[in-house]
Amino acid sequence: MAGEPTTRNTPDDRTREDVVSAALGKLDLDAKARLLAGRDMWSLPALPGIGLRPLVFSDGPIGVRGVRWTADDPSIALPSPTALAATWDPELARRAGRLLAQEARRKSVHVLLAPTVNLHRSPLGGRHFEAYSEDPYLTGVIGSGYVNGVQDGGVGTTVKHFVANDAETDRFTVDNVIAPRPLRELYLAPFEAIVENAHPWGIMCAYNSVNGTSMSEHHYLQNEVLRGEWKFDGAIVSDWMAARSTKGDIEGGLDIAMPGPQTVYGEALAGAVRAGDVDESVVDEAVRNVLRLAARVGILDGAPAVVPESALPAAVDGQAVAREIARRAFVLVRNENRTLPLDPARTVALSGAAARDARVLGGGSATVFPERVVSPLDGLRAALPADALTFTVGADPSDELAVADKGFELRAVCRDEAGNVVGEGSLPGGQVQWIGDDLPDGATHENLHSIEVTGTFTPREDGGHAFGTRGLGAYTLKVAGETLFDGVQPMSEGADPFEAFFGAPQERGRVTLTEGEPVEISLTHTLAKNTGASIRAVMFALTHLGPQRDADALIAEAVEAARTAAAAVVVVATTDRVESEGFDRRDLELPGRQNDLVRAVAAVNPRTVVVVNSGSPVEMPWREEVAAVLLTWFPGQEGGAALADVLLGAEEPGGRLPTTWPVSFADVPVTDVVPVDGELPYAEGLFIGYRAWEKAGVTPAYAFGHGLGYTTWEYESVIAAGSVVTVRVRNTGTRTGREVVQVYLAPVADTVERPVRWLAGFASVTAAAGETVEVAVDLPRRAFEIWDETVGVWRLVEGEYEVEVGRSIADRRVSVRVRR
Ligand code: BGC
Repeated sequence: MAGEPTTRNTPDDRTREDVVSAALGKLDLDAKARLLAGRDMWSLPALPGIGLRPLVFSDGPIGVRGVRWTADDPSIALPSPTALAATWDPELARRAGRLLAQEARRKSVHVLLAPTVNLHRSPLGGRHFEAYSEDPYLTGVIGSGYVNGVQDGGVGTTVKHFVANDAETDRFTVDNVIAPRPLRELYLAPFEAIVENAHPWGIMCAYNSVNGTSMSEHHYLQNEVLRGEWKFDGAIVSDWMAARSTKGDIEGGLDIAMPGPQTVYGEALAGAVRAGDVDESVVDEAVRNVLRLAARVGILDGAPAVVPESALPAAVDGQAVAREIARRAFVLVRNENRTLPLDPARTVALSGAAARDARVLGGGSATVFPERVVSPLDGLRAALPADALTFTVGADPSDELAVADKGFELRAVCRDEAGNVVGEGSLPGGQVQWIGDDLPDGATHENLHSIEVTGTFTPREDGGHAFGTRGLGAYTLKVAGETLFDGVQPMSEGADPFEAFFGAPQERGRVTLTEGEPVEISLTHTLAKNTGASIRAVMFALTHLGPQRDADALIAEAVEAARTAAAAVVVVATTDRVESEGFDRRDLELPGRQNDLVRAVAAVNPRTVVVVNSGSPVEMPWREEVAAVLLTWFPGQEGGAALADVLLGAEEPGGRLPTTWPVSFADVPVTDVVPVDGELPYAEGLFIGYRAWEKAGVTPAYAFGHGLGYTTWEYESVIAAGSVVTVRVRNTGTRTGREVVQVYLAPVADTVERPVRWLAGFASVTAAAGETVEVAVDLPRRAFEIWDETVGVWRLVEGEYEVEVGRSIADRRVSVRVRR
């Protein structure tokens, strides 16, 4: 069961507690304070005296990157969290988790910095792709499956970001002002459900404040609610660099300050105890939590790991899981005249730059380096005869430089001040990302003076190629022997500390190159000494943009190819300058000329299928002019293979929308992500997502829960007995299919302010053509409760409810009335 917690109060739990208490008793104040502070970017110190090995964390959530930012040790890249939620399948989420635990073990990682269970409050939220849904119940169910899966494999999780990190603008300082009911009923609800159903061993606190208090110091939410009311017994780790106050953080319930070595814990914490500012017993409780986490993952001598080696789940094939999740997550929102599946015996004209250079994962800390990426072009090439497929670029979503990738063979050469080589390292592309002591062998922060990113670039196209830099400091850039830049990029006012990672690339010059002819590239970055930064890091990137061909000519080529093909497939996408950690979106438009491309292709081919490659909603102004629209999220490394499975009908698309897709940004009910004077009021209260759409009475493009398969369903009946609702559905189509039966609750005459209806439960069924199946859905008591702000308790709202069952919140087929 996806809902079964991994651990309970077993004899092993009690042994672990005894070992933890004994270990705690042996530590002096300095050792205790040291244990609560990162020793580097990703780990805690070892304490050999008590048999404790270093605890290693890693991001999270679609793969396990490990402690190095290189492609040398690749990771399986699963589809984005929005995709996982679109499966509406906690069992599949659990399998994803098990695969990630296997990856973590392979990389000697003990705790995965995931899942992200903040809500889709506004589609502008930069990390929308990294969270599951606009609905707290669905988020809690998927998150519980995921946590249970990771912890089945003996690896810890840190459910993040506690709480209300729902947007990125001023994320380190924003104060989200949230009334008690929405805080409980929406934002805290997934965390509460996961603590209850999956017993996570860790939680990560958010950067932001809630109602005036920084989350890392939030005594009420961390100590009283999370630990007190919900009985969370794991460790709370700060988001990276979120811990800013020794006394405030430790008394507010924060156990671990990451990353190190410079933190507000360690020596500062021991000093605060000695000065009488902090009671040592508070430190002891934090140490107990950390030792318990270490014991659970099996790195504290004498304490049995929750999952011993002998009890690990069977090994999982990562590529197969990635492919299965992708196809189960694809949401077919439109399919006129059964355009899909396509006939594999007929021709396909594929277009869109993202069909060749797929965007398989979202930007920021969620980045991993997969060993291979199957693009839509690769996937369709493998599935169709050679002469059945054409590809044209059609339109490129990006007219900005991006981190050097295709065609580049690069390595990093580290030099000291005298110019001697002190180390060399491989690079995954143009991005250098060395944090803490993660430097190439031989290089140290003391001897390192400059880093040269050097190698070759083999162009895929003739023409003017632009090259540039991203990051702060001094650079010299040479391409094919020509110096394009020799200067300094200064820090802009109020920039995010991860500016080098998320900031805008700067163009430094253009060079005319010939397809297939390699040229030498060299970007040298000279380090500024003594920057005073709290973490020691080397972060910068070589960036590139291929020749910008005439946009009309590109579209015309795609149109010509589409005109004569049996079907046209256009892949449209966002870019990492549009959707990423570190900043919010400004609108929901597809970048570049992609909308024009779709319209032009659809005008000549009535069987035009648009594949949308984005982590979160985009406007699709052409959606009623095309035959079919398939949303594929950031589909992970096997996305193109899964796409071929679905387009050609080997498998049906299994996804249902975890979030409402608007017609236009102007219709979106909640958009505000920009704080004013440091505050962001969640003024919409209880009404986000479909709750807000229904209140506003505005019809979206595609409703929450919507998604088509390749068969059809009839909802025959629903009956209710106690809290259980039993639904009969019949597969009325011609092939086996899977249906997500969704149960919504609508109060008949409400006595309190509540949404028109909300998701109260769901289950999926599989049935052969013509088959009738029954499924029972248990409606939790919580679905009938509200948070009573006057007394601060959950209160059942008595009265009549319509239990509405159907295919989406807008397509409800059968209902039954119940009394509570
Ligand atoms: C992100 C976290 C992430 C951490 C470590 C932070 O910037 O908000 O989600 O786990 O970095 O990479």
